[in-house]
Amino acid sequence: MKPKEILVFGASGQIGRHLLRKLTKNNYKVVAVTRNIHQKGYILKTQANPGYLEIVELSYFNLEKIENLIEGCSICINLIGILFEKKKNTFKNIHTDFPDLLSKLSSKKKIEKLIHLSSLGIENALDSNYALSKLNGENKIKHNFDRSVIIKPSIVYSVDDNFTTNFMTLLNRLPVMPLYYEGKTKFAPIHVKDLSQIIFEIIQGKTNEQTIECIGPEIISFKEIILKLLKTIDKKRFLIPLPLILAKATAKIFEIMPKPLITVDQLNLLKYDNIPSGKYKTNFDLGLVANRMFDEELEKYGFNWRSGGQFSKKNFLKKKL
Ligand SMILES: NC(=O)c1ccc[n+]([C@@H]2O[C@H](COP(=O)([O-])OP(=O)(O)OC[C@H]3O[C@@H](n4cnc5c(N)ncnc54)[C@H](OP(=O)(O)O)[C@@H]3O)[C@@H](O)[C@H]2O)c1
Repeated sequence: MKPKEILVFGASGQIGRHLLRKLTKNNYKVVAVTRNIHQKGYILKTQANPGYLEIVELSYFNLEKIENLIEGCSICINLIGILFEKKKNTFKNIHTDFPDLLSKLSSKKKIEKLIHLSSLGIENALDSNYALSKLNGENKIKHNFDRSVIIKPSIVYSVDDNFTTNFMTLLNRLPVMPLYYEGKTKFAPIHVKDLSQIIFEIIQGKTNEQTIECIGPEIISFKEIILKLLKTIDKKRFLIPLPLILAKATAKIFEIMPKPLITVDQLNLLKYDNIPSGKYKTNFDLGLVANRMFDEELEKYGFNWRSGGQFSKKNFLKKKL
């Protein structure tokens, strides 16, 4: 049987790299699209055996090129997303207009499936431009192409993420950690391997559900996450609830940085729990289980942020005794 060709936009990101390995190991041929082949080629080409991966450089809004790429694929996966806006890199361009275009072309070319990554916990966050742009993107896709699957994950974590790794670096360096909204916002973190497995099963046709909220096995508050990170890196820090007015003022200053630690828009989003809305089925409802526990997975890479690094690993310490 001819292997299916899968076209992946945003393949060089955290989810993309894990998914790429999963797909190519299982005999799928992947075309990975990146904006900069010189910068991302090294990361991408080591993810698959020769013959399974083609890397294409593309300016995403080149309609003709995108149309040609979609023409040749059975399944298209969109993993492009941003956390803050810079110049023309707007939420609307990335989260609404691009999915709109992809779904129209998917319909025109009659491909088998379009899988799009949106986000959990955005339904009520009407004061966040990120959330609104993601919601608008979902609506465009649903309107344009009925063979699409929208995946809405909570925080996705792994050694390659921008969340646990950045916070462990910050916690190492700062004597105090500000808590926004007293750290009460709830999350259902899912490990990237569990999410990749779910996407893989969707590709294999295990479910035809159009919108799936993807969560891990636990619901944990922001404060609990920070405490778990501190325990993993073996540090004690003062956790200080930051009044909203002060939090917004500091976020405004951070926004000047090329890669802001937090923006006002992210602060608005953080007000809303990142847990299932009840509006859609979750992966668990559909028998797509995500079993990896936050503490256990964190222990596998968090030692890198402990003093002593790999020599502080529990099994190493046991051996020495
Ligand atoms: N990670 C999470 O916790 C999480 C949670 C909920 C939802 N999601 C969603 O899941 C998707 C994938 O997440 P991820 O964590 O893998 O993201 P990521 O690591 O930030 O990677 C996203 C990829 O998108 C591409 N990209 C970024 N800005 C772009 C732009 N302006 N134009 C075109 N391409 C651009 C980049 O690829 P190139 O540089 O190679 O072009 C990048 O590798 C996103 O839609 C995200 O919103 C993620």
